[in-house]
Amino acid sequence: MSNFLLIFTVFFLCSKVYCERTKEKIYVDITSSGRSPCFRRLNGTHQIGCTSDPKGNVGVVHYVNTSSDIDWLLEKGPHKPYAVLLSARYFNMGTVKRLQASGKVNGIMVIQVAGKEDKYPPAEAFSPDKSCPNQGYGLYSGNEDYEGCSKAVWNPVGQGLMFQDLSIPIFILTQEKDVDFIIEKCYKKFNERDSAGKARDYPLCAVQLKDRMDGAKDSETCTRRTNHQLNLNPDRYCDALGDQNVYATVKDITNEETRENKSVIVVAARMDSFSMFEDHYPSADNHVSGIVALLAVAEAIGKVKDKIRDSNLTKDVMFTFFQGEAFDYIGSGRMVYDMENNLFPSSVTGKYIQKINFRHISHFVEVNQLAYRDEGKVWIHTDPISRPKLPEVDKMVSDLKDIDPSLVEVADMSLPLPPASVQSFLKKADLPAVVVTDHKKEYTNKFYNSRLDLASEIKANCEKGSNKSECYNTVSEQAKNLTQIADMLAKFLYKLATGENSTNDVVVDENTVNHLLYCYLISPNCELFKQSLSKDKADQLADEPYQFYVGVNTQLNNYTALTNQMLMVYLGDRVENVIAKNCTTDTKKQAVYHEQWIQGPLNENGTRNPYCIRGSANFSLAISKAFEIDGYDFKSRQFSTWTESVWQIDAINVRIFLIPSKKFETVTLSIGIVVLVVSMVIVYLINRRVDVLFAPPGPFQEYRTITTSM
Ligand SMILES: *[C@@H]1O[C@H](CO)[C@@H](O)[C@H](O)[C@H]1NC(C)=O
Repeated sequence: MSNFLLIFTVFFLCSKVYCERTKEKIYVDITSSGRSPCFRRLNGTHQIGCTSDPKGNVGVVHYVNTSSDIDWLLEKGPHKPYAVLLSARYFNMGTVKRLQASGKVNGIMVIQVAGKEDKYPPAEAFSPDKSCPNQGYGLYSGNEDYEGCSKAVWNPVGQGLMFQDLSIPIFILTQEKDVDFIIEKCYKKFNERDSAGKARDYPLCAVQLKDRMDGAKDSETCTRRTNHQLNLNPDRYCDALGDQNVYATVKDITNEETRENKSVIVVAARMDSFSMFEDHYPSADNHVSGIVALLAVAEAIGKVKDKIRDSNLTKDVMFTFFQGEAFDYIGSGRMVYDMENNLFPSSVTGKYIQKINFRHISHFVEVNQLAYRDEGKVWIHTDPISRPKLPEVDKMVSDLKDIDPSLVEVADMSLPLPPASVQSFLKKADLPAVVVTDHKKEYTNKFYNSRLDLASEIKANCEKGSNKSECYNTVSEQAKNLTQIADMLAKFLYKLATGENSTNDVVVDENTVNHLLYCYLISPNCELFKQSLSKDKADQLADEPYQFYVGVNTQLNNYTALTNQMLMVYLGDRVENVIAKNCTTDTKKQAVYHEQWIQGPLNENGTRNPYCIRGSANFSLAISKAFEIDGYDFKSRQFSTWTESVWQIDAINVRIFLIPSKKFETVTLSIGIVVLVVSMVIVYLINRRVDVLFAPPGPFQEYRTITTSM
């Protein structure tokens, strides 16, 4: 009997305290949809961003909602290391540096839930980019008078947090339930100091922040390691950033025709931005406002394209969207290289189009951020170095002003150009160029390249709860604004291309602008995208916006593909009397065009009449030459050198758990040892007295064996 009691006790202890899988009881994982990490990127000389220990950084949760929470942590908090749950109001360079410098903090979670802050966006201004974006790769690098934003600091709120080598894990938490759980069930229940400021004792609630990055040091090192290993071991440490540029010409001059010198007007916008956190690239002002305005211009020009095409005296217009510009001008840097080497358009994608070189470019018009208009105007910026040599610039400026005198203003002509793709071109040749944007001097966008450059901030959002057709039909305030600018630009370009003064036929449609804003900022699963694609592709459109971050160069970005598709439709032609299977590009013919079967607009009765579209819109590489030239000097700053670290599938995780006190841990360990010893004794005793406990073998031995073994 006493034996039985002992066995019972051991089993009881065992199941309650020791033997059960403890993991599930203690850990709470924040699901991947509720968290988004800051990750590591590298350039030719540095690593930037976040990482963690291979097993994650563990810290006691401390919630910072007021500045006294920070002070207490730094002055008193006895339980280091801490992991801070930070109200987004405090997420800035100053706080992050202070927390890091204290040596007490080894991870940060930033709350990204509108309902948890008294206002949203939580800060007046936040930009993780530098105050002088893309410095070192633009036109003025090395120029005494203009280098380093000496005349105008374009992004004064930019603290450069993105470019710091933080080397701790930082996440944003995006779901209210997770944030509530951490605050109420973890922090307040176990960790919060008492009203006298005294810290709580164990058990404490902790978080494990895992954000392990494989790449380290700089792009040269990690690509070298990558290449070396290529044959033996497919492990990669980092991937070059890059994608494709998108371009389309109106006149489509074939390689059998001649392209006259100074006969192409390049009109360009940038397609990408970034933020510190994966998948959070809202990019409303920077650069959706520019992309949408330029597409609306393409539509307006497309409607009068025959007038441009049908004459030898007109200039061609090349619509161009650059990718990767936020990372030291990846896309424009590459196009410049290709043009200089007679490689543009490429012999793969633009085989039958006559090459375009610098000498062919007559004008360059770039649209930049357009949504927050300084003094209600759009501002024309020019380059003070080349302007005196190029009378064409003044002509462009005065023509722009003539078209809409109440809208267009000229920025201080002594200022250099703001960061813009055209800087890549002007580095190589003097071209008549203007940059059209919303800021007179420094950016009016207070959230440049950040997770807070939101559609709601530029007033392009759709009322919550309204359905899609309401959204399409209610022209937002911002859509009206952008229409005004696009209309002015379309008329200007038409005049520049044809020399004609009457531009009344060139009109930008505000419904197009409104709808495009919806497609890019609210949901790509929108009617305009759907009607411009084949049914297959349209059915795959996502409800949530795609990323505006250039990403790594192995995959085509969705918005790159969609922007190309919109250019195809706006500048292309409908091919009549063709059935789907004949709507393909004839590769044998020297065609500058390709053909696509698209499903067309929705009819009243819910059906569509698909048709064949023929156009020349195409892609060109937005991949830095730094990764293609053998022995390229990664410190030379000739081409962008940005890469993104690789991480493993299980490298990212956020997990909440309790840390017991040292005493509790000791007790648990002691019980464990006692249980171990006791069970060894019992097993010994059972073995010794096996014939007492179990009856001796009999006729039903086999049966018995089975039951006892169970
Ligand atoms: C790499 O980035 C760091 C941080 O922004 C910068 O200081 C450095 O000059 C960059 N190096 C190159 C080669 O561009």
